[in-house]
Amino acid sequence: MLSQYLAQNSFEQLSKLTEHGFCVMDNFLPNASILALANEISALNNVAKMHEAGTGQVKVSLNKALRGDSIYWLNELDASAAQLVYFKQMALLRSDLNQHLYLGLFALESHLALYPIGAGYKKHIDRFKINHTRVTDQSVRQISCILYLNQGWLEDDGGELRLYLNQDDAINAPELTIKHLDIAPISGRLVMFLSDTFYHEVLPANKARMSLTGWFLTRQ
Ligand code: OGA
Ligand code: MN
Repeated sequence: MLSQYLAQNSFEQLSKLTEHGFCVMDNFLPNASILALANEISALNNVAKMHEAGTGQVKVSLNKALRGDSIYWLNELDASAAQLVYFKQMALLRSDLNQHLYLGLFALESHLALYPIGAGYKKHIDRFKINHTRVTDQSVRQISCILYLNQGWLEDDGGELRLYLNQDDAINAPELTIKHLDIAPISGRLVMFLSDTFYHEVLPANKARMSLTGWFLTRQ
């Protein structure tokens, strides 16, 4: 049995993840929790606790050109009520993923993110495929999960997640034969994709854009 999410079509979406490597689930959390998480970002930002994100691969001065968001790493041991709702749903999701896709996911790392007006994140991948013989005993990002917190987001607001679909299995799915898919960051929407497979970018928006990004980790 699949665990109960708010999302009506979660089983269907999880099979899409198996088949195509990505999926989109709407209504992943109750709206009250989404609102609370968005308010937490505003509050953290007001007391200067959201910090400029780094990419880890380039000099700090170049980071800003690559990504314009500020982030705040979450700690499950020190979670707010709304964050606990998130962690609980993610735990259910992780166990479903492990049960149905045998992924061996054992942990989650997550951060809140705030993109100011006009900020984006240039085309990138969340994990590079690494030579397995050189890296041992290391946890790596297996699935990227982005939960959007933007109430009343309109099409004209921009800020889409652009997911590049250059996969072999695009051949089997006519809807995937387009080169990329633009996904609007609407409130309660969770996008999941394989971290080492999909290049993606965040398009600039004309409103501040909020999200909670999580990565399920697996052992290399
Ligand atoms: C990231 C990322 C996408 C988004 O944080 O690595 O690609 O839509 N986020 O926020
Ligand atoms: Mn990314």
